[in-house]
Amino acid sequence: MTYARIAGIGSFLPEKVVSNKDLEKTMDTSDEWIRERTGIKRRHVVVDGETTSSIGLIAAQRAMADAGLGPEDIDLIVVGTATPDKVFPSTACIIQRQLGVRGSPAFDVHAACSGFVYGLDLANRYIVTGGAKTALVIGSETLSRITNWEDRGTAVLFGDGAGAVVLTASEEPGILATHIHADGEYEELLHVPSGVSVGYDETRAGRAFIEMNGNAVFKRAVATFDNIARETIADLDGHIDNVDWFIPHQANMRIIKAAAKKLGLPMDRVIATVDEHANTSGASIPLALDQAVRDGRIKRGDMLMFAAFGAGFTWGSAMLKY
Ligand code: ACO
Repeated sequence: MTYARIAGIGSFLPEKVVSNKDLEKTMDTSDEWIRERTGIKRRHVVVDGETTSSIGLIAAQRAMADAGLGPEDIDLIVVGTATPDKVFPSTACIIQRQLGVRGSPAFDVHAACSGFVYGLDLANRYIVTGGAKTALVIGSETLSRITNWEDRGTAVLFGDGAGAVVLTASEEPGILATHIHADGEYEELLHVPSGVSVGYDETRAGRAFIEMNGNAVFKRAVATFDNIARETIADLDGHIDNVDWFIPHQANMRIIKAAAKKLGLPMDRVIATVDEHANTSGASIPLALDQAVRDGRIKRGDMLMFAAFGAGFTWGSAMLKY
């Protein structure tokens, strides 16, 4: 049997850091409020010249170096992003060119905060069916560009960053199961109300900003993690103890704790990095994964579970042996 196995991981956070204390100077908020409600201490933001593709490229190059593979080895590129460089071409095509990969399929997946797990699901299907041997799955976001820095209800929550994995076809177990879902019923609870064919005047005026009903999103996120938990525990024949590390989408510490509780997992088996980079949407799971591999917590052979939830609403999970 052929599995898609993680051969390399990389990530990148922009150099510029905006702390909660920095936000205190520009809006009616406090470090204490932000930490208590979200667990976030700081976020990284891009500066002029940095783009979703430029930071995604660095994460991809690091993942390829980690895997010991070059551009000639890559035969699929999937980028999970809600903040692409351009309407077209896709951010995946822009990164493909910069990497020097030629001819492989390259496309973006737009599933908001679930973009990386959606991309992983797709790349896994390509690999197990023989459509690709080595796939690059990238999550990259520049949410600061669609953040209303005058809205304390959303501005404190988001950040920029990128993470990537290289998946290779292997006889050894890698990805064991993935599930992805969506329910478009909740469009207005978390959205950017203007884009290209809707609200273009607002977009042109530089007012294409994230809008969110925080309380309602919080409740849906926690309820959805309950569904993810049930589906995943069924995959494990009811044995959540088989999971060494749970790596949820890094939205908010309270959501992460609620999700772990639903799964029956103690927090010492949960990777949480949201304090360091806030909610980076599609980049958050590979960022957390990279950090935990680099600091030695996650080791080869460990069983990992990813779970994501985002605008749409979209959600999904992946179970894999690292
Ligand atoms: N600083 C200080 N006060 C604030 C801030 C802020 N940054 N933001 C809101 N407040 C105030 C509100 O105005 C309100 O004041 P009031 O009582 O005088 O009206 C008070 O704090 C309480 O506001 P709530 O919205 O009820 O606060 P809540 O406890 O729900 O926390 C939060 C808000 C953190 C946004 C929470 O609802 C949440 O985490 N929601 C999930 C949002 C999320 O993570 N979205 C990310 C995208 S989805 C995903 O990735 C999973």
